[in-house]
Amino acid sequence: MTQTPPSSLLSKAKASAPAFTTIAPYYDFVMRDVPYRRWKEYVLRLVDRHGGGSLLRRNRAVLDAACGTGTLALMFAADGYQVTAVDISAAMIEEARRKSVTLQIPLALLIQDVAELSVEPSRYALCISLFDSLNYVTVPARLHQAFLRIHDALVPGGFFIFDLNTPLALRSHMFDQEDLNPQEPVRYRWRSTYDERTCLCTVRMEFWIGSGAETSKCTEIHVQRAYEHAEVLQLLEEAGFQFLEALEAYTFDPLRPTTDRVFYIAQRPET
Ligand SMILES: C[S@@+](CC[C@H](N)C(=O)[O-])C[C@H]1O[C@@H](n2cnc3c(N)ncnc32)[C@H](O)[C@@H]1O
Repeated sequence: MTQTPPSSLLSKAKASAPAFTTIAPYYDFVMRDVPYRRWKEYVLRLVDRHGGGSLLRRNRAVLDAACGTGTLALMFAADGYQVTAVDISAAMIEEARRKSVTLQIPLALLIQDVAELSVEPSRYALCISLFDSLNYVTVPARLHQAFLRIHDALVPGGFFIFDLNTPLALRSHMFDQEDLNPQEPVRYRWRSTYDERTCLCTVRMEFWIGSGAETSKCTEIHVQRAYEHAEVLQLLEEAGFQFLEALEAYTFDPLRPTTDRVFYIAQRPET
């Protein structure tokens, strides 16, 4: 028997869109202060720090898993790397495609769930997944599967570098942010709740686009899972990775109790 959902539920469902759909054309504006160029340099220094510089000079194939609108992927490609960039959101990939055409920088773009990643095996010297993209993989078994697929995409000796929001960050409402300055073409207010039982942080993201009578509003619900450090290490090991290091983001310092973002560096073993 088909039951009609209560109208309150229907209007709620209509009121919000899936993550990274309606906001895709405005993502780069909202993230305009993100220092992607410094992130690229940091990633390359991490590879160097673990003796991977010569591998990356010989093998220029880089995979960006959850590339978003492709800003970082395009920076690597502009430096002569052959970049494959994958994202689950067709709308984000569309933005990346538009930028790739405008800038005339070639990118191989694929709409894929990272847990179902399907790329040429044993090809890439480096896989990156930055800006807490993997926190969006909210089921540990799916993260395990993503790690397995990434492992198989790397050449033996290839590097996997990703960052995650820590449980501390998600618990302490790091996502609660707003920019409601009426002078800005895109305004936003984000509010989060954290569920200790499921380790899930649910963020209601409201955006206002345009001004005056032309203003439109969109709302997206984003869900991230907090992964404990030990859990990440176990998932990496189970996927066949050698864990190399975990650092306080954008530094070469070890993790602290106050760390809100971790960079993980792992390697597909040589044999
Ligand atoms: C915060 S954005 C970061 C995007 C990009 N890495 C950056 O630095 O701007 C997170 C991205 O992860 C993508 N994403 C979330 N879950 C995914 C999944 N299971 N597979 C692939 N991409 C995913 C989203 O569509 C979104 O583009």
